[in-house]
Amino acid sequence: MEKDRIYIFDTTLRDGEQAPGYSMNLDEKIRMALQLEALGVDILEAGFAIASPGDFASVQAISKELKQTVVASLSRALEKDIDAAWESVKYAKRPRIHTFLATSDLHLQYKLKMSREDALAKAKAMVAYARNLNDDVEFSLEDATRTDLDYMCRVVEAVIQAGANVVNLPDTVGYSTPDDMTRMVSAVMNRVPNIDKAIIAVHCHNDLGLAVANTLAGLKAGARQAECTMCGIGERAGNAALEELVMGIRTRSDEYPYSHNIKTEEIIRSSRLLTQITGVKPNPSKAIVGANAFAHESGIHQHGMMANSLTYEIMTPESVGVMNTSLVLGKHSGQHAFEKRIADLGYTLGKEEAIALFAEFKNLADRKKTITDRDIIALVENASQST
Ligand code: KIV
Ligand code: ZN
Repeated sequence: MEKDRIYIFDTTLRDGEQAPGYSMNLDEKIRMALQLEALGVDILEAGFAIASPGDFASVQAISKELKQTVVASLSRALEKDIDAAWESVKYAKRPRIHTFLATSDLHLQYKLKMSREDALAKAKAMVAYARNLNDDVEFSLEDATRTDLDYMCRVVEAVIQAGANVVNLPDTVGYSTPDDMTRMVSAVMNRVPNIDKAIIAVHCHNDLGLAVANTLAGLKAGARQAECTMCGIGERAGNAALEELVMGIRTRSDEYPYSHNIKTEEIIRSSRLLTQITGVKPNPSKAIVGANAFAHESGIHQHGMMANSLTYEIMTPESVGVMNTSLVLGKHSGQHAFEKRIADLGYTLGKEEAIALFAEFKNLADRKKTITDRDIIALVENASQST
C-alpha cells in the first residue's frame, strides 16, 4: 500500500515552552531547534514573536540557523502580530506565518466579544494580509473542537479562499475523544468544497490523556499535519507527544500507513537535551522516553526477554536511540536473569552455588530498593571467601 506522507509540526519551543517550568533562553532554544531539525521535524514553531523581545530574538535567530526545516512564528489575527511574526521568520529558508482566531461561541462571546460573522471576516482579512507577506500561511481555529460544525466549515472554506495553505483544527482544551475527532475532521474533509487546496492539521492537548489517540484519529480521518511537542510538554497537561505519535505510527503501520521524515533513532537524544536544558525529567513510566520504558524487573518478563525480546517489547530500544534493554535486578527478578548478570560480570558459578547465592540475593532485594552490579559482585566475592 502506498503510504500517505504526513507532516510533523513541532511546537516544543512555543506551546511547549508556555508550560510552567519550561522556559528557555536564546542559546537553549537554538540548541533545541538544531536537535529538532536533526530529528527531522518538517515544521518548527520557534515561538510567539510578539510575546516578548526575547521570543522575537529567538525566532529570528532560529530562522537564520536552520537549514531545511520550515520555521513558523505564531501570531494572533492582528496586523501588528502578523508583522512581528513575519519580521522574525523572514530570514528562514522556508518561513511560515501561523495566525489564529478562536471560533467557538464560548470564546467569541467571553474572550473576543465578537459575533461569528465578524470573526469570519477577520479571519479572512488576516489570512489575506499574511499571504501578502509570505507564501506559506497557516490558520488555526482556536477551540475548534467546541465550534459549531457548520460555522467551522464556513471559516475553513473562507480562509483557504483567502490563501491559507494549512488549516489547523486544535483541540485547545483537550476535551475531545477520538470519535469526536473522526467526526470533526471527516465533516471538514467532506463538506468544504475547496479542501483540496490546503492541508488540514490537528493540534491536540492532553487534558484527558487523549492527545495522541485524538491526533491518530484526526490523521485517519484525513488530516495530514500533526502538531506535537517533544515529551508532550505544553499548556496545562501538555500537547500530543511527538515520540508517542511517531512510534505509534511505526509500530502500528497496519492501522496508520503514513510516511514521515522523523529519524526515530534521534528521539532519546532529543528528549535528553530537553531534560538537560529544562532540568525536568520525564516520568519514569512515560512511554518511549521514560527511564523504565525499556526496563524489565519481573522474573517472568526477564525470562521471556532472554528467549525473544518480542515477548515483552513492541519496539526495539535501538529504534528510538536507547542502547539496549535493561534487565533490572530486584525482588521480582528470577534465577535466569540473576545467573546471566553474574556471567556478564565475568563469574562462573556451579549450579548449587548459583542457587544458594540467588536466595541471598532475594533477601537483599527485599531490603534494598535497587540492586546494583556492585551489590552482585559483593555477594559473589563474599560467598567465594567463605567457602
Ligand atoms: O491550542 C491551541 O489552540 C493553540 C493554537 C494557538 C494553535 O495552541
Ligand atoms: Zn495549543
